[in-house]
Amino acid sequence: MKEKKHKVLFVCLGNICRSPAAEGIFRHKVESRGLADRFEIDSAGTYGGHAGELPDARMRAAASHRGYTLTHRSRKLTDDDFLHFDMVVVMDDSNYERSSRIAPDRESQNKLYRMTDFRRKYVWDHIPDPYYEGAEGFELVLDLLEDCLEGLLEHLCPTEIQG
Ligand code: 4NP
Repeated sequence: MKEKKHKVLFVCLGNICRSPAAEGIFRHKVESRGLADRFEIDSAGTYGGHAGELPDARMRAAASHRGYTLTHRSRKLTDDDFLHFDMVVVMDDSNYERSSRIAPDRESQNKLYRMTDFRRKYVWDHIPDPYYEGAEGFELVLDLLEDCLEGLLEHLCPTEIQG
């Protein structure tokens, strides 16, 4: 029997820094474990002002140094996303509130998760917005995302990734 895909949407504010990085890192993790056909992965932003743009050049450069190629085009989160995806994973409290207002009903709101719900070794309770920060802000975001996304993969595929 064919297993149902996990449909995961990552959400931040502009969909040019944190959420496209999360999408690229998570895609890399599932592909390297041979689990790509078990997942549908995408990202979106609660603010549509960067729609159509590639990720921020600073984030693309930092991600590329770690082996991730980010090609997503920014788009705004829609109410339909909550009907299609199983999990909508946000980066901070502001994303949570804005996404919650876009969610069409209570069942949709129950699909909202915080990225840091899946953290393993860091104690951060949000993924900080790097947009107005220097290079170290982007490195911190990637460190946190790599940790939390390993936790998310373990949560969704506990038996497949043992060892
Ligand atoms: P992101 O970062 O939410 O991680 O994509 C930001 C991108 C753009 C803006 C703020 C944060 N902005 O104000 O345009």
